[in-house]
Amino acid sequence: MTTPAPSSFDVRPLEQEDRDQALDVVWRAFGWGYRQDSVDDVFAGRSIEADRTLVAVDASSDVVGTASAYSLRMTMPGGDLQPVAGVWMVTVAPTHRRRGVMTAMMRRQLADLAAGGEAVAALWATEAGVYGRYGYGIASWRQPIEVDLSRAAFTPHARDLAARSPARLHLMSLDDALPHLTAIHDGILGARPGTLARDADRWQFLLGGGDGRPPAEVVVAIGPDGPTGYAAYRVREGKPGLVPTGVVAVQEVSATDPATHAQLWRYLLDLDLLSTLVCESRPVPDPLAHLLVDHRRMHARLDEALWVRVVDVERALGARAFAAPVDLVLDVTDDVVPANAGRWHVVVAEAGGTAVVRRTDARPDLSLDVGDLGAAHLGATPLHVLALAGRVVEHTSGAVAAASAAWSWSPTAHTAEIF
Ligand SMILES: CC(C)(COP(=O)(O)OP(=O)(O)OC[C@H]1O[C@@H](n2cnc3c(N)ncnc32)[C@H](O)[C@@H]1OP(=O)(O)O)[C@@H](O)C(=O)NCCC(=O)NCCS
Repeated sequence: MTTPAPSSFDVRPLEQEDRDQALDVVWRAFGWGYRQDSVDDVFAGRSIEADRTLVAVDASSDVVGTASAYSLRMTMPGGDLQPVAGVWMVTVAPTHRRRGVMTAMMRRQLADLAAGGEAVAALWATEAGVYGRYGYGIASWRQPIEVDLSRAAFTPHARDLAARSPARLHLMSLDDALPHLTAIHDGILGARPGTLARDADRWQFLLGGGDGRPPAEVVVAIGPDGPTGYAAYRVREGKPGLVPTGVVAVQEVSATDPATHAQLWRYLLDLDLLSTLVCESRPVPDPLAHLLVDHRRMHARLDEALWVRVVDVERALGARAFAAPVDLVLDVTDDVVPANAGRWHVVVAEAGGTAVVRRTDARPDLSLDVGDLGAAHLGATPLHVLALAGRVVEHTSGAVAAASAAWSWSPTAHTAEIF
């Protein structure tokens, strides 16, 4: 692969014969090392949606960049499951970086979506500085946690709560657990914005192992009326010695009621021969902190989680609920999707209702960029905080407070899995 002149590349949909080169670009860019699986296995096993994948090709027709999207379904504020484009596989060959290849792919992807795809796109960013320029905003937050297991006692209330659960815990293979996991996940799907629907491939991808990771241990809580929760985790053996130093890495804990939730955490915190529990992605705020006597031993750090891009203002705002009635004119800037730019009259008649959104020439109450609308879209990044950061500008007294109350949502958005 030679280094071309700066603008000599083209962005187009992936074709069958591009797949091998495209995967080489992805593997190199992410530093995943040597690719062992065949192209067919990767496209099948990783569920790459070939027909939603773009490639950048240089003048020699070599693939030098990739960008793909999953067809996700995500819970919006109010509980409705909506189609969302899950952007990923955004990579550029090291020989072709910093000459606009990613920008060309992101613009093409957004133009394709705006022309008839999902009204909202979402992604996990490898680096914080990349996606703001394309109109993505930080829409949810997560906490990686680390708990010292020698100081992980429950409060008396939490002990009683866990003991009251009628469920019994069963360790199961993923295959045996799958019907239970599906039932539990489907049951909680509408409760929290940011939750993603999962099919069998996705469960396998998350918990089944591969990419150098062992399969997760899966423990399922089954009560008299059926499954009420599960936890998925992996144990990492510690150093040999007289004091345990092993680690339990919790992937997720999901429960349909507080007693099962407490019961599953007690199980995880009581695993033998370990010193530390870690979990990469806990919701903010985390109910676990309220189960522990010494919650200071649960070291937590606030990290960004999902970035959201409102691709179509009218459709996106019409497909989520709002926590309070509101009647405002927004002046939206959007440098990438021109159809979003301009003034929008947003009316929500009642708390919990959806918005009627119309073009208007009326004087704006608020000005903001489409990235800020994306940040606020799941209800977890308050508009009043964006206003304090100078990103949202108020023209009518009280408009920020009214918008912030309407756009916010409880419970706070959380997406358990990285895609
Ligand atoms: C991130 C990546 C896709 C950028 O590709 P690229 O073609 O070099 O990007 P572009 O030339 O289009 O750069 C567009 C802009 O982003 C900036 N940028 C690019 N990579 C950046 C990074 N890692 N951090 C901050 N800014 C970055 C560029 O400086 C440029 O800024 P400008 O618009 O102000 O001039 C590429 O470096 C890559 O493959 N990285 C490894 C894989 C990865 O992290 N992918 C993202 C997955 S979520």
